Amino acid sequence: MKLVHTVQELRAELDIQRRAGKKIGLVPTMGALHEGHASLVRRAVAENDIVVVSDFVNPTQFNDKSDLAAYPRTPEQDAAMLEKAGCDIVFMPEVEEMYPEPVKETYNFGELEAVMEGPQRPGHFSGVATVVHRLFNIVEPKKAFFGEKDFQQLAIIRRLVEQLNLPLEIVPCPIVRAEDGLALSSRNMRLSAEARKIAPQIYATLKKAVEQSQSQTIDEVKHFVINTLKSFTVFDTEYFEIVNDTTLQPIANWSEARGVVGCIAVWLDGVRLIDVIRFR
Ligand code: PAF
Repeated sequence: MKLVHTVQELRAELDIQRRAGKKIGLVPTMGALHEGHASLVRRAVAENDIVVVSDFVNPTQFNDKSDLAAYPRTPEQDAAMLEKAGCDIVFMPEVEEMYPEPVKETYNFGELEAVMEGPQRPGHFSGVATVVHRLFNIVEPKKAFFGEKDFQQLAIIRRLVEQLNLPLEIVPCPIVRAEDGLALSSRNMRLSAEARKIAPQIYATLKKAVEQSQSQTIDEVKHFVINTLKSFTVFDTEYFEIVNDTTLQPIANWSEARGVVGCIAVWLDGVRLIDVIRFR
C-alpha cells in the first residue's frame, strides 16, 4: 500500500495504473476509520483493480469550528486498517494541498438540501460537494463508494454526478452496526462509556417505529420516536423525518412514495449521531 500526500504524486501513480488498463475505485473518507469504512474498502477492492482511499478531514464541510477541531484524527491506525482491508493507495493531503487558494465554488442542491441536515448545517453540503468533486477530478475513478448512513449526503452526491454528467458510478453501501445496533461512526469514539451504553436505544427505537408503521400514521410514528427518545432524558433529537427515499421530501401518508426511509439526528453527550431506517 502506498501513502501519498500530494495531488501530483497521486496523479503520477494513477496515470501508470490507468495506462496499464487498471480500473480505479475511490473511497472518500475523513479518517478515524472503523469497520464501516473497512466494509466500503473491501467492496471497492472486489469491484476494482486499484483502490484509492482519501483520508482528509475536510474543513469546508464544517460550519461549526469546534466540531472541526474535535473531529477525531487517527492517521496511523487508519493506515493499518486500510492495508488490512486491501487498499492500494491512501491519499492523506494537507488542507493547503486540497485548497491551495480560498474556495470560491458553491453548489446548490435545491430541495435535496432544504431538509434535515441542510437547515441544521448551512453550507455543509456545498462543502462536501466541493471536496468530493475535487477528489473525483484528481482520481478519475470509475466507481466511488459511499455509506448509506449519510443518506442525504449520498443523494446529494448522486445529484452532483447527474448535474455535471461526471463519468463514474456511485455505489451505495449498507450501514454497518455494532452488535448492539448502534450505527458505526467516527463520532462514537467521543461518547463516554455511559453514553455509549444507551446510544443503541436510537436504533432500537427506529426498529420499533418500523413495526408501528404497520398500524400507525406517519405523524403517530414520528411522535412515537421523538417521545420515546425524550423519555430517556439524555437524548436531544434534532430532527426525525420520514421521507421519500429519492426526493428526501417528508411525506404525509405511507402510500405517497414507493421507497420510504426515516432519518434521525440526535445529540447525546455532546455528540451528534445520525441514523437511517427503511420503512418501505
Ligand atoms: O462522509 C464523509 O466522511 C465525508 O463527508 C466525505 C464524503 C469523505 C467528504 O469529506
